[in-house]
Amino acid sequence: MYGKQIEKYFEHYNLELKVHKTKIGEKAKTIPTFLSIVDSMTEFGIYRKEPVLVVGGGLVTDVAGFACAAYRRNTNFIRVPTTVIGLIDASVSIKVAVNYGNYKNRLGAYHAPMHTFLDFTFLRTLPKAQIRNGFAELIKISSCSHLATFDLLDKYCEELINTGFGRADGAADEVRDAADKINREGIHEMLKLETPNLHEIGLDRVIAYGHTWSPLHELVPETPLRHGHAISIDMAYSATLANCRKLLSDAEHRRILNLFSRAGLSMDHHQFDEEILDKGTAAILKTRDGKLRAAVPNPLGSCTFLNDVDHAELTAALRRHKEIMKDYPRNGEGLEAFVDASDTGYTDNNQSEVEALETAAEEAGNLNGSMDGTKVVHGGHVIDGSVDGLNGHADGVNGHANGMNGHVKDDSDIIKEKKLANGLAKGLTNGVNGFTNGAKA
Ligand SMILES: NC(=O)c1ccc[n+]([C@@H]2O[C@H](COP(=O)([O-])OP(=O)(O)OC[C@H]3O[C@@H](n4cnc5c(N)ncnc54)[C@H](O)[C@@H]3O)[C@@H](O)[C@H]2O)c1
Ligand SMILES: [Zn+2]
Repeated sequence: MYGKQIEKYFEHYNLELKVHKTKIGEKAKTIPTFLSIVDSMTEFGIYRKEPVLVVGGGLVTDVAGFACAAYRRNTNFIRVPTTVIGLIDASVSIKVAVNYGNYKNRLGAYHAPMHTFLDFTFLRTLPKAQIRNGFAELIKISSCSHLATFDLLDKYCEELINTGFGRADGAADEVRDAADKINREGIHEMLKLETPNLHEIGLDRVIAYGHTWSPLHELVPETPLRHGHAISIDMAYSATLANCRKLLSDAEHRRILNLFSRAGLSMDHHQFDEEILDKGTAAILKTRDGKLRAAVPNPLGSCTFLNDVDHAELTAALRRHKEIMKDYPRNGEGLEAFVDASDTGYTDNNQSEVEALETAAEEAGNLNGSMDGTKVVHGGHVIDGSVDGLNGHADGVNGHANGMNGHVKDDSDIIKEKKLANGLAKGLTNGVNGFTNGAKA
């Protein structure tokens, strides 16, 4: 979308430009996409310390950032985020990742960029549904740690969403100024909170408000919820829970709910029920070292972590929340709340890659399943043969298999290699299955 401008910039400064274009949806946040970037890096002949310029939304910066983390163990990169989530959230962290085997961000790294350039004019072209996603993260950070920012979101809610944070033509200066304050403070708060905890050793995290039950619930509806909506449901419910405990006054509680509603963000969903709360609690206890650590605003603008909430309290708060939702348009359900092809779509040219990988994995699985030690040595070649004429990723993956088989020296090694080859085939098949399941979702 911004290719022409980028080309012009490089031309103007007489710099050579090599571009790897991609349009990634969540389902293509995968190893094949990661490998396609790695392949381009090799093709471009990147110098050891030369930084890769990564321009795009959180998906692109996560996948390309991970490619940079892995390439020669460590390759510099510069991040230029183009979405609200990218600008105020993903680019503030040092995390990079891809999804694997139906798990979000299962493979990744902590890899800080050399620089991050924030240019909010990218928001001129960002669809409103994506603006809302970022708005939800800003409600999160402000309601738990910066009241003045919450006040600004509350004052300019509709204008901010309708004008891409004051970047659209004709937006009032006042809205743009408010947007700049909100974003600067939001990022600053996140930096203050997270810089001492870059590797997430500390588990009481203010920025996890809305991220307690939502990780599970986000994927429950037949069409998954957009991230901003999933966390808004969790935040709105958590606010009701805090209000039941008198940690949040009635006025503050309503202020938060009204803001979600005005922003068109979801506060409830029919499948956000007792069962999801129980399952979500069990899942998050594992992630958070056995404690719930549910962040709630207390009072608005600061935060408390709840650990001692039992099933009865959770469900009583849920019943009350659903009652309150009857006062709101659409019973608290949001606008454009579910992912569409712009969120989930494959890379433009990825379908053939997926098919090639599926075939290669299937064949590798069959071959390895029936192999004895000696044949494994040839296994690599067979896999190689089976992907002749297919695309670069399948070759790349099989290149690894060849590499492993290339080390085979004696019988004991052969057995070891057989295990490795089987493991690889299984991994590949799982990966591809994950992909296919994902596609079905
Ligand atoms: N690393 C982290 O700490 C971190 C934090 C938050 C989110 N994330 C990750 O970020 C991803 C979500 O990122 P996102 O919300 O930015 O979505 P995204 O990258 O999918 O972008 C959303 C959509 O907007 C389009 N787009 C991007 N910039 C545009 C622009 N300027 N104009 C028009 N269209 C544009 C994209 O093509 C896409 O269709 C998730 O995978 C999530 O896991 C990572
Ligand atoms: Zn989030």
